[in-house]
Amino acid sequence: MVRETSLRPEHLIAPIFVTDGEDVIEPIDSMPGITRVSVDRLTAVADELITAGIPAVILFGVPAPERKNPDGTESYASDGAVQRAIRTLKVHAPELVVITDVCMCEYTSHGHCGILDAKQYLVNDVTLDTLQRIAISHAEAGADVVAPSGMIDGAVGAIRTALDAAGQISVAIMAYAVKYSSAYYGPFRDAAGGAPAFGDRRTHQLDPANRGIALRESALDLAEGADFLMVKPALAYLDIVSAVSAAHPGVPLVAYNVSGEYAMVKAAAAAGWIDERAIVLESLTSMRRAGAGLIITYHARDVAMWLRA
Ligand code: PBG
Ligand code: ZN
Repeated sequence: MVRETSLRPEHLIAPIFVTDGEDVIEPIDSMPGITRVSVDRLTAVADELITAGIPAVILFGVPAPERKNPDGTESYASDGAVQRAIRTLKVHAPELVVITDVCMCEYTSHGHCGILDAKQYLVNDVTLDTLQRIAISHAEAGADVVAPSGMIDGAVGAIRTALDAAGQISVAIMAYAVKYSSAYYGPFRDAAGGAPAFGDRRTHQLDPANRGIALRESALDLAEGADFLMVKPALAYLDIVSAVSAAHPGVPLVAYNVSGEYAMVKAAAAAGWIDERAIVLESLTSMRRAGAGLIITYHARDVAMWLRA
C-alpha cells in the first residue's frame, strides 16, 4: 500500500538481434536465453513479447561477415536485415513500438562506430552522414523510434534534420545520451559481432569516473531534439540515472540494463548462487526508483511473465 516504486511489463523494452539468412535461431553463449533470429522467425518472437505485455522492442542488426566493409554501407541497405525486420513487425503487429539501434559498429569491418581516417581515428562529422542514411532507411521501413548509440557528437541534431527533410516528422529519437565506455558491453559485442578489431571506444564514449559530462551530454541531446534520454549501463550508474532524471524532469528516461549485467546474473543463477527472479526484480525496481521510466533489458520477457503470474 505504501510502496513508492512500481515495476510493470509496460516499463520494459526487449532487445532483439536480427540476422541474415532463413530459419535462424542462434543461441548466444555469453547470454543464455537470448538468440539471434532471422526475419522469418521474428513474428513468433514478437507474439511472445506482446502476450507478455511488453510494449516495445529495440532491434540490433547482425549482418553476415561478408556484408561488412570499412564504411559500413550495409547499415542503410533498404533490404538489410533490420530494415526487413521493421517492415515485417509493423505489418504483423502494428501496436508494438519498434525502436532501432542506429550505429555502424555491427556493419564496419573494423568494428568501430564510425568512419576512420588514415590514422584509424574515428572522424566524427564524416560519420554523421552515414547515421542520417541509417535513420532514414529505418524510418522509411516504418520504425517508430530511432536510437543513435555511438556517442557521435551532433548525431541527434543531424538525424532530426535528415528525418524532417525526408518527411519523417513523426519518427522520434531516443538518444543514448549518456553512454559510458564500459566493460559491461562485452557479451553484446559477441552477440552482435561488433567488437572493435583494434583500439577502443574511449574517444567518444564517456569516462566512468565522470558525472558532469552526463548532464552536459543530456542537455545537448535535448537541445538537438531528443525525445528520450538514455543512461547506459544501468546498475553501476544509478547515481547518473538519478542525476539525469532530476536535471530533466518530465523527459522520458531510459536505463539500459546491458549485456554484462545480464550475463553476470545468468551465470550466478545457473551456478545456484543467487535467486534469479528475486535479483532481477530487485535490480530493475532499483532502476525505476533511481528515476528510469523505461528499462531496456534482456530479462524483459521473463520479468513480464513473472509479474503477470
Ligand atoms: C553499439 C551498441 C553497443 C551496445 C548497444 N549498442 C555496444 C558498444 O557500444 O560497444 C551495448 C549493449 C549491451 O551491452 O547490452 N554502439
Ligand atoms: Zn556502435
